[in-house]
Amino acid sequence: MAKNISDNERDAKVFALYEQLVEIEERLIPTGLHVFGRPSSAGEKIDLLKMVASFDRPESGVRALPEGLLDEAVREFVTSGADPAVSLLEQKGVTAETTRPVFSLLETISAKLQTNNELDSLLRALRGEFIEPGPGADIVQNPDILPTGRNTHAINPYAVPSAVAFARAEAVARSLLERYQNENGRYPEAMALVLWGLDNIKTQGEGVAQALWLLGTRPVRDALNRTTNIEAIPLDQLGRPRIDVVMTVSGIFRDLFSPTVQLLDKAVRLVAQLDEPLELNYVRKHVLQQVEQEACDVDDAAVRVFSNAPGNYGTNVNFMVMDSQWEREETLGDLFVTRKCFAYGRDSKGRPIEGREARVAMDRALSRVEATYQNIDTFEIGLTDVDHYFEYLGGVSKAVEKRAKARPAIYLSDTLSREVKIRTLEETVRLETRAKTLNPKWYEGMLKHGFRGVAEIENHVSNTFGWSATADAVDDWIYAEVANTFLFDESMLERLRDLNPHSAHALAQRLLEANGRGYWDVDQSVLEKLREISRSLEDQLEGVI
Ligand code: BEZ
Ligand code: MG
Repeated sequence: MAKNISDNERDAKVFALYEQLVEIEERLIPTGLHVFGRPSSAGEKIDLLKMVASFDRPESGVRALPEGLLDEAVREFVTSGADPAVSLLEQKGVTAETTRPVFSLLETISAKLQTNNELDSLLRALRGEFIEPGPGADIVQNPDILPTGRNTHAINPYAVPSAVAFARAEAVARSLLERYQNENGRYPEAMALVLWGLDNIKTQGEGVAQALWLLGTRPVRDALNRTTNIEAIPLDQLGRPRIDVVMTVSGIFRDLFSPTVQLLDKAVRLVAQLDEPLELNYVRKHVLQQVEQEACDVDDAAVRVFSNAPGNYGTNVNFMVMDSQWEREETLGDLFVTRKCFAYGRDSKGRPIEGREARVAMDRALSRVEATYQNIDTFEIGLTDVDHYFEYLGGVSKAVEKRAKARPAIYLSDTLSREVKIRTLEETVRLETRAKTLNPKWYEGMLKHGFRGVAEIENHVSNTFGWSATADAVDDWIYAEVANTFLFDESMLERLRDLNPHSAHALAQRLLEANGRGYWDVDQSVLEKLREISRSLEDQLEGVI
């Protein structure tokens, strides 16, 4: 095959490979767990400051450092201080005027990273004393969260989405639709979105704003500057159809963002009523279709915001997967709908619908979905770090697959890099696996924590497995490399055995389950080796050896 490609094609392939390697190299990953009360090490500090310095912060007059000089400049700053770093960049033609503000921000952050009030604050809290409040976010997005050890407060839901969040969301919604269009030659008529509370706190409502953009609407503030209303962006400004959006919000979102739930529901109902051509307004198209075909009223046909029953949280899809308590994959999607089919919003007479069970409405809404999506906005927690991404995005995708009779396209955004990036689920799982689970920098960082570190590695593998179960999104090589790295390398296996044989055994069992359920196609000889390792770990746990 190599002989048949032209020089240009070869160059393009090599360049694409180069881009992928750079993407993995540049990915900021947590290298170990946070130890309560302990400030970050010098190495961690350099990585963090580089990330902070790579973003423009127009609100505080800070410009990002030039990409090519970032590493050198931040190292100079950490070893010698702000002045030498400014001079270094001046020699390279970047004026002191542009770099002073960013180094002064880095100085503030550096100093605050040295302070750690966590233990002291915990003791004060236990004594019932005052703890100074501070915002909740990640350090890169909002350096004002430092120093840690304060009483984290959220935000005012009436301020969501903020003007900045709404502006940023436009590019994300555009890229998302472009990606779908490139792959399918048209826009998706309906999409399912997952919205979480903590994420929308951190970003002041980026996920909410993305939903509004897809619908082709914008928030309107009232006389008290509260976001309580919605207006439609005219179609000629929007330049594309309005997408039908089915929203599953977490229990936390429902509790924290009650006015926002109302806003989202209002946006859908507003769009459904617009007198526009159906091929440019998929919400209206679907609502009218449903009213005609099923003799239901517009109120029921326009339900798009779903969550758990009042007082209830989570999908339980994660527990079902982790405990291997399922036979058919569709059970996972059905469980998602059972847990999440409660409607929120208001009917056309303004009467609140607060958690009414609406299974038929959710089934209908999901049956039209062609793409599912979740906004990722943090460096610290990704797809395989916790079981919540697959329980939500995986759960809704599996529910769509049965109801729409086709697997949806599944996307995630990465609003962390300089440019907005939309990735498919498969691409994101690959990137996370390379950047974390199979990356020695990550797993050695975890192994420093002994017992807990091995449990974290096993968790990552199980969460990866969750993406097989809910979305068939894991390549064979991922399981093969997990087996090679952690179990077939004798000295590594010894370390895991010593530190935490329970998790090592669970890891071997999960790999066998991946094969047993048809997610990992692998030779019998490999399986035999795995079974052997699993048996010997079991013997160890039972005290036989
Ligand atoms: C939330 O912030 O809404 C959330 C947090 C953890 C798991 C699921 C949702
Ligand atoms: Mg497969």
